[in-house]
Amino acid sequence: MCGVIGATGAQDPLEIILEGLHRLEYRGYDSAGVALVEGDRLWRVREADGTRSVAALEVLARGAPAGSRTGIGHTRWATHGRPSPENAHPHFDCTGGLALVHNGIIENHAELSAGLVERGHTLASETDSEVLVHLLEEELDQGLVEAVRRCLPRLRGSFSVAVVHAGEPELIVGARRATPLVLGVADGEGLVASDIPALLGRTRRLFALADDEVAEVRPGEVRVTTVEGRVVEPTALTVEWDLEAAQKAGCDDFMSKEMGEQPKAVADTLLDRRKADGTLVLDELRLRVEELAAVDKVVIVACGSSYHAALVAKYALEHWTRLPTEVDIASEFRYRDPVLDGRTLAVGVSQSGETLDTLQALREAKRQGAKAMVVSNVVDSSMAREADGVLYTRAGPEIGVASTKCHLAQIVALELLALTLAQHRGTRGRPEVTELFERLSELPGKVAETLGRRKEVDQVADALAGARDFFFLGRHVGFPVALEGALKLKEISYLRAEGYPAGELKHGPIALIEPGTVVVAVATRNPLWEKMLSNVEEVRSRGATVVLVADDGDEETARRADHVLWVPPVEPLLSPVVNVVPLQLLAYRLARALGHDVDRPRNLAKTVTVE
Ligand code: G6P
Repeated sequence: MCGVIGATGAQDPLEIILEGLHRLEYRGYDSAGVALVEGDRLWRVREADGTRSVAALEVLARGAPAGSRTGIGHTRWATHGRPSPENAHPHFDCTGGLALVHNGIIENHAELSAGLVERGHTLASETDSEVLVHLLEEELDQGLVEAVRRCLPRLRGSFSVAVVHAGEPELIVGARRATPLVLGVADGEGLVASDIPALLGRTRRLFALADDEVAEVRPGEVRVTTVEGRVVEPTALTVEWDLEAAQKAGCDDFMSKEMGEQPKAVADTLLDRRKADGTLVLDELRLRVEELAAVDKVVIVACGSSYHAALVAKYALEHWTRLPTEVDIASEFRYRDPVLDGRTLAVGVSQSGETLDTLQALREAKRQGAKAMVVSNVVDSSMAREADGVLYTRAGPEIGVASTKCHLAQIVALELLALTLAQHRGTRGRPEVTELFERLSELPGKVAETLGRRKEVDQVADALAGARDFFFLGRHVGFPVALEGALKLKEISYLRAEGYPAGELKHGPIALIEPGTVVVAVATRNPLWEKMLSNVEEVRSRGATVVLVADDGDEETARRADHVLWVPPVEPLLSPVVNVVPLQLLAYRLARALGHDVDRPRNLAKTVTVE
């Protein structure tokens, strides 16, 4: 996730900016940059050396002009355009007199940039962010603050920005929508940052900026106005956190923070995917429409939680596109002599884009002539570079080893891919694709609602304290949800947990059910709901403690349960995005109750680059 920082009025703004960038490194980034106002000119350095970029900037900064009092800095987590010095922020306008740093996604950047090019601007990067600095360039006649006010209404999407102008050397203008921006005041210094950790250590006089407000940050003062120019009192922030707590946004651990970020991860993955006429476009896919339309089989390879996301996608792909779809664990696929050809679409799903088995599986697919694409959370990862096409989940960096927000974003990305294929193949008409996209767009709200029920899930978890054996059951798309629920629990609590398709119960696992066994079943309404309830009765009658994920108000299901995890009802094929959330929360609470480190579970690694 990008980090933004700015300082004015300081003896040495560069030092504040570099320290702030270090404090933002925990968010994960691939490139970084700084711009300083030097008299009536701007000075800039940028680096794209992965997580060494800030250290590299420190070396370059030795050549910085002395005497500058104002500057801005940025750590970039690439979403639009690969990590490179040209795509790193700060971005300049055509005159080189304006510099901007941005966190978020400007959804209508393509349309805005087409207009800018027509009006003679030269855009120097592939980023969505750069359009804003050129828009500001056109509106500077009454100064930077007024220019920002005029441009904000033209932006769609999410942003927190800080801008400096060589003509106004003691000013930083900040603005935001849907992503945070914090203002700070210290002795003679005005500060701005995308999050609190960047400013801690400098000041505790911090203020929050609200959506569509404009901040004028000057030495020792901040002034906030609305887009219309009305002065507003910024909300003071009381910060009692130390640096580590601040990096976790006050949460106890990264897993908790990242579960909380799931609505945004889902919403960002959906941003910018639909044109005004309703057609779905996956810009970065790099595969031509004809290539997609010619596909006659899909093969998905992945590991861990990514594999479970792929299993969900199989149901959606086969139903919406009628394409035969195979899903394989990457380490098995590589060695099983799979049958592929030029009409096969091979999809690697990998949050990191580096997992060795998935990378090798994609190479095998390419070797056999298949079109290879990857669904990845990391721009320019090894898989993204090697594949013919890529679709990015925009979950931001995930630090907790057990995947949460990336998993949800993967399901959504794969469902987008399925809908896009359905559209190109003509297996689903425009109205149905539109309707399904609308349902997808409702998911962030429903995930947020489900996260809001954390206390109720905690109570269920507390009632299960002491249990050692867990079975997770599901049918249809509820089956991968069960697998993921079991995986989360075993990864972080070290309790025995197995996921099964409920219909398979009678073929073995039921022999293990006895009083004390906990059975967690996904029992939301879908065409197989009645069959699911029969399976629940089978384990109940053998003494299992039954926990059911059920649609709000579904008392008929609740009657069969010892404990219910309520969820808002969702279209069955999309339901895993919501239904997995209470299972994450359940695993989290059980693991914490046992005193485990949920961010760094024993024996596990976040990225597995060995076989
Ligand atoms: C590791 C992680 C899991 C992840 C899996 C696949 O096992 O702990 O959270 O699901 O790798 O990783 P990938 O980066 O390929 O999605």
